[in-house]
Amino acid sequence: MQTLTAAAVGVLEAAEPAEKIARTRAAAALWRQREISEIGAVPPPERPSRPQRPVLKAARDMPKRRARGGKENRIALLHALAHIELNAIDLAWDLIARFASETLPRAFFDNWVEVADEEATHHGLLATRLRELDAAYGDFPAHGGLWEAASGTSEDLLARLAVVPLVLEARGLDVTPTMIERLEAADDSDSAAILRVIYRDEIKHVAAGARWFAWEAARREVPPIETYHRLVRRYFRAALKPPFNDDAREAAGFAAAFYLPLAAMDS
Ligand SMILES: [Fe+2]
Ligand SMILES: [Fe+2]
Repeated sequence: MQTLTAAAVGVLEAAEPAEKIARTRAAAALWRQREISEIGAVPPPERPSRPQRPVLKAARDMPKRRARGGKENRIALLHALAHIELNAIDLAWDLIARFASETLPRAFFDNWVEVADEEATHHGLLATRLRELDAAYGDFPAHGGLWEAASGTSEDLLARLAVVPLVLEARGLDVTPTMIERLEAADDSDSAAILRVIYRDEIKHVAAGARWFAWEAARREVPPIETYHRLVRRYFRAALKPPFNDDAREAAGFAAAFYLPLAAMDS
Protein backbone atom coordinates (compact mmCIF):
# COMPACT_ATOMS: atom_id res chain seq x y z
CA MET A 1 0.00 0.00 0.00
CA GLN A 2 1.19 3.47 -0.85
CA THR A 3 2.37 5.72 1.95
CA LEU A 4 1.74 9.44 2.36
CA THR A 5 5.40 10.32 1.99
CA ALA A 6 5.62 8.26 -1.23
CA ALA A 7 2.60 10.14 -2.57
CA ALA A 8 4.20 13.45 -1.54
CA VAL A 9 7.41 12.60 -3.36
CA GLY A 10 5.34 11.59 -6.39
CA VAL A 11 3.94 15.12 -6.52
CA LEU A 12 7.33 16.76 -5.97
CA GLU A 13 8.79 14.73 -8.84
CA ALA A 14 6.04 15.66 -11.30
CA ALA A 15 7.36 18.47 -13.49
CA GLU A 16 4.22 19.50 -15.37
CA PRO A 17 1.68 21.56 -13.41
CA ALA A 18 -1.27 19.50 -14.67
CA GLU A 19 0.42 16.33 -13.45
CA LYS A 20 1.35 17.93 -10.11
CA ILE A 21 -2.29 18.90 -9.66
CA ALA A 22 -3.64 15.49 -10.70
CA ARG A 23 -1.30 13.66 -8.32
CA THR A 24 -2.16 16.09 -5.50
CA ARG A 25 -5.89 15.57 -6.02
CA ALA A 26 -5.50 11.80 -6.11
CA ALA A 27 -3.27 11.63 -3.04
CA ALA A 28 -5.50 13.97 -1.03
CA ALA A 29 -8.59 11.91 -1.90
CA LEU A 30 -6.89 8.66 -0.91
CA TRP A 31 -5.72 10.21 2.35
CA ARG A 32 -9.20 11.49 3.21
CA GLN A 33 -10.74 8.10 2.42
CA ARG A 34 -8.00 6.49 4.53
CA GLU A 35 -6.90 4.41 1.61
CA ILE A 36 -3.52 5.86 2.40
CA SER A 37 -3.05 5.66 6.14
CA GLU A 38 0.66 4.97 6.63
CA ILE A 39 3.02 7.94 6.70
CA GLY A 40 6.11 6.01 5.66
CA ALA A 41 9.53 7.59 5.34
CA VAL A 42 10.31 8.39 1.71
CA PRO A 43 12.58 11.45 1.74
CA PRO A 44 11.75 14.40 -0.53
CA PRO A 45 14.05 15.44 -3.38
CA GLU A 46 16.30 18.42 -2.71
CA ARG A 47 14.33 20.45 -5.25
CA PRO A 48 10.93 19.70 -6.77
CA SER A 49 10.71 19.08 -10.50
CA ARG A 50 9.44 22.00 -12.56
CA PRO A 51 8.28 22.53 -16.13
CA GLN A 52 10.74 23.92 -18.71
CA ARG A 53 8.69 27.09 -18.80
CA PRO A 54 8.45 29.53 -17.11
CA VAL A 55 12.11 30.46 -17.21
CA LEU A 56 13.21 31.12 -13.64
CA LYS A 57 15.05 34.34 -12.88
CA ALA A 58 16.57 35.99 -9.83
CA ALA A 59 14.26 38.55 -8.23
CA ARG A 60 16.49 41.44 -9.34
CA ASP A 61 16.21 40.33 -12.99
CA MET A 62 12.43 40.18 -12.97
CA PRO A 63 10.68 42.81 -15.08
CA LYS A 64 9.10 45.52 -12.94
CA ARG A 65 5.35 45.33 -12.77
CA ARG A 66 3.56 48.61 -13.40
CA ALA A 67 0.70 49.53 -11.11
CA ARG A 68 -1.86 50.12 -13.86
CA GLY A 69 -4.81 47.82 -14.35
CA GLY A 70 -4.46 47.18 -18.07
CA LYS A 71 -4.93 43.67 -19.41
CA GLU A 72 -1.19 43.03 -19.75
CA ASN A 73 -0.59 43.97 -16.14
CA ARG A 74 -3.45 41.86 -14.93
CA ILE A 75 -2.05 38.91 -16.85
CA ALA A 76 1.38 39.53 -15.33
CA LEU A 77 -0.16 39.60 -11.85
CA LEU A 78 -2.14 36.38 -12.40
CA HIS A 79 0.98 34.74 -13.83
CA ALA A 80 3.06 35.69 -10.79
CA LEU A 81 0.33 34.37 -8.48
CA ALA A 82 0.03 31.12 -10.47
CA HIS A 83 3.76 30.66 -9.97
CA ILE A 84 3.49 31.26 -6.23
CA GLU A 85 0.65 28.72 -6.00
CA LEU A 86 2.63 26.10 -7.92
CA ASN A 87 5.45 26.59 -5.41
CA ALA A 88 2.92 26.36 -2.61
CA ILE A 89 1.81 22.88 -3.76
CA ASP A 90 5.41 21.71 -3.50
CA LEU A 91 5.95 23.48 -0.18
CA ALA A 92 3.01 21.65 1.40
CA TRP A 93 4.15 18.22 0.18
CA ASP A 94 7.75 18.94 1.08
CA LEU A 95 6.68 19.81 4.62
CA ILE A 96 4.84 16.49 4.84
CA ALA A 97 7.67 14.35 3.47
CA ARG A 98 10.52 16.27 5.10
CA PHE A 99 9.27 16.20 8.68
CA ALA A 100 7.37 12.91 8.60
CA SER A 101 10.04 11.19 10.66
CA GLU A 102 9.13 13.28 13.68
CA THR A 103 6.32 12.03 15.87
CA LEU A 104 3.44 14.05 14.56
CA PRO A 105 -0.27 13.38 14.99
CA ARG A 106 -2.59 12.47 12.16
CA ALA A 107 -4.21 15.93 12.43
CA PHE A 108 -0.91 17.47 11.33
CA PHE A 109 -0.99 15.51 8.09
CA ASP A 110 -4.74 16.14 7.65
CA ASN A 111 -4.08 19.87 7.74
CA TRP A 112 -1.15 19.91 5.31
CA VAL A 113 -2.74 17.51 2.84
CA GLU A 114 -5.73 19.86 2.75
CA VAL A 115 -3.39 22.81 2.24
CA ALA A 116 -1.69 21.02 -0.68
CA ASP A 117 -5.07 20.22 -2.20
CA GLU A 118 -6.18 23.86 -1.93
CA GLU A 119 -2.92 25.15 -3.43
CA ALA A 120 -3.55 22.83 -6.38
CA THR A 121 -7.02 24.36 -6.73
CA HIS A 122 -5.52 27.86 -6.60
CA HIS A 123 -2.96 27.15 -9.29
CA GLY A 124 -5.61 25.51 -11.44
CA LEU A 125 -8.02 28.45 -11.14
CA LEU A 126 -5.30 30.93 -12.08
CA ALA A 127 -4.01 28.83 -14.98
CA THR A 128 -7.55 28.56 -16.35
CA ARG A 129 -8.10 32.28 -15.96
CA LEU A 130 -4.83 33.00 -17.81
CA ARG A 131 -6.08 30.87 -20.71
CA GLU A 132 -9.35 32.83 -20.75
CA LEU A 133 -7.22 35.95 -21.15
CA ASP A 134 -5.32 34.35 -24.09
CA ALA A 135 -2.22 33.73 -22.00
CA ALA A 136 -0.75 30.69 -20.28
CA TYR A 137 1.30 29.81 -17.25
CA GLY A 138 4.85 29.69 -18.58
CA ASP A 139 4.52 32.67 -20.92
CA PHE A 140 6.63 34.96 -18.72
CA PRO A 141 9.75 34.55 -16.61
CA ALA A 142 9.06 33.78 -12.97
CA HIS A 143 10.75 34.28 -9.63
CA GLY A 144 13.34 31.55 -9.18
CA GLY A 145 14.01 32.25 -5.51
CA LEU A 146 10.79 30.98 -3.99
CA TRP A 147 12.20 27.60 -3.13
CA GLU A 148 14.96 29.17 -1.02
CA ALA A 149 12.57 29.62 1.90
CA ALA A 150 12.14 25.86 1.88
CA SER A 151 15.73 24.81 1.32
CA GLY A 152 16.95 27.17 4.06
CA THR A 153 14.64 25.65 6.65
CA SER A 154 14.80 21.98 5.73
CA GLU A 155 16.47 21.02 9.01
CA ASP A 156 13.92 22.41 11.42
CA LEU A 157 10.14 22.08 11.44
CA LEU A 158 9.69 25.17 13.65
CA ALA A 159 11.82 27.29 11.31
CA ARG A 160 9.88 26.04 8.27
CA LEU A 161 6.56 26.88 9.92
CA ALA A 162 7.85 30.28 11.02
CA VAL A 163 9.00 31.26 7.53
CA VAL A 164 6.55 29.62 5.12
CA PRO A 165 3.04 29.88 6.57
CA LEU A 166 3.82 32.52 9.20
CA VAL A 167 5.85 34.95 7.09
CA LEU A 168 5.16 34.27 3.42
CA GLU A 169 1.54 33.09 3.47
CA ALA A 170 0.68 35.68 6.13
CA ARG A 171 2.13 38.33 3.81
CA GLY A 172 -0.30 37.10 1.17
CA LEU A 173 -3.15 38.01 3.51
CA ASP A 174 -1.78 41.56 3.76
CA VAL A 175 -1.59 42.21 0.02
CA THR A 176 -4.50 40.25 -1.46
CA PRO A 177 -7.36 42.65 -0.53
CA THR A 178 -5.66 45.47 -2.47
CA MET A 179 -5.19 43.18 -5.47
CA ILE A 180 -8.88 42.28 -5.34
CA GLU A 181 -9.81 45.98 -5.28
CA ARG A 182 -7.58 46.70 -8.27
CA LEU A 183 -9.06 43.85 -10.27
CA GLU A 184 -12.57 45.01 -9.45
CA ALA A 185 -11.62 48.56 -10.44
CA ALA A 186 -10.42 47.17 -13.78
CA ASP A 187 -13.79 45.40 -14.18
CA ASP A 188 -12.14 41.99 -13.97
CA SER A 189 -14.55 40.44 -11.49
CA ASP A 190 -13.71 36.90 -12.68
CA SER A 191 -10.11 37.29 -11.57
CA ALA A 192 -11.20 39.06 -8.38
CA ALA A 193 -13.48 36.11 -7.55
CA ILE A 194 -10.51 33.72 -7.80
CA LEU A 195 -8.47 35.89 -5.47
CA ARG A 196 -11.35 35.84 -2.98
CA VAL A 197 -11.25 32.03 -2.94
CA ILE A 198 -7.49 32.15 -2.42
CA TYR A 199 -7.80 34.74 0.35
CA ARG A 200 -10.39 32.67 2.24
CA ASP A 201 -8.27 29.51 1.98
CA GLU A 202 -5.01 31.23 2.87
CA ILE A 203 -6.47 32.31 6.22
CA LYS A 204 -6.76 28.57 6.92
CA HIS A 205 -3.18 27.98 5.82
CA VAL A 206 -1.87 30.64 8.19
CA ALA A 207 -4.10 29.11 10.88
CA ALA A 208 -2.51 25.72 10.25
CA GLY A 209 0.91 27.34 10.56
CA ALA A 210 -0.01 29.05 13.83
CA ARG A 211 -1.57 25.87 15.20
CA TRP A 212 1.40 23.61 14.50
CA PHE A 213 3.96 26.22 15.44
CA ALA A 214 2.32 26.46 18.87
CA TRP A 215 2.07 22.68 19.09
CA GLU A 216 5.73 22.10 18.25
CA ALA A 217 6.93 24.93 20.52
CA ALA A 218 4.96 23.39 23.40
CA ARG A 219 6.43 19.99 22.68
CA ARG A 220 9.95 21.44 22.81
CA GLU A 221 9.04 23.54 25.84
CA VAL A 222 10.23 26.76 24.23
CA PRO A 223 8.42 30.14 24.46
CA PRO A 224 6.52 30.51 21.15
CA ILE A 225 6.73 34.27 20.59
CA GLU A 226 10.43 34.66 21.41
CA THR A 227 11.22 31.55 19.40
CA TYR A 228 9.33 32.91 16.40
CA HIS A 229 11.32 36.14 16.62
CA ARG A 230 14.61 34.29 16.79
CA LEU A 231 13.78 31.97 13.88
CA VAL A 232 12.47 34.70 11.58
CA ARG A 233 15.53 36.85 12.24
CA ARG A 234 17.79 33.93 11.54
CA TYR A 235 16.06 32.35 8.53
CA PHE A 236 14.05 35.12 6.88
CA ARG A 237 16.59 37.84 7.60
CA ALA A 238 14.49 40.77 6.41
CA ALA A 239 12.16 42.95 8.42
CA LEU A 240 8.46 42.23 7.92
CA LYS A 241 6.68 44.75 5.77
CA PRO A 242 3.73 46.63 7.22
CA PRO A 243 0.89 47.42 6.91
CA PHE A 244 -0.34 44.08 8.25
CA ASN A 245 -3.83 42.73 7.77
CA ASP A 246 -4.42 42.38 11.50
CA ASP A 247 -8.02 41.18 11.10
CA ALA A 248 -7.13 38.31 8.76
CA ARG A 249 -4.09 37.39 10.82
CA GLU A 250 -6.17 37.39 13.97
CA ALA A 251 -8.83 35.28 12.24
CA ALA A 252 -6.01 32.78 11.60
CA GLY A 253 -5.09 32.81 15.29
CA PHE A 254 -1.84 34.61 14.56
CA ALA A 255 -1.40 37.27 17.23
CA ALA A 256 0.25 40.65 16.62
CA ALA A 257 2.76 39.93 19.41
CA PHE A 258 4.43 37.52 16.97
CA TYR A 259 4.88 39.77 13.97
CA LEU A 260 4.67 43.40 15.12
CA PRO A 261 8.06 43.46 16.85
CA LEU A 262 9.65 42.31 13.56
CA ALA A 263 8.08 45.06 11.46
CA ALA A 264 10.30 47.28 9.34
CA MET A 265 10.63 50.65 11.05
CA ASP A 266 11.01 52.75 7.98
CA SER A 267 8.06 51.84 5.79
FE1 LIG B 1 -2.62 29.27 -2.22
FE1 LIG C 1 -1.38 28.68 1.02
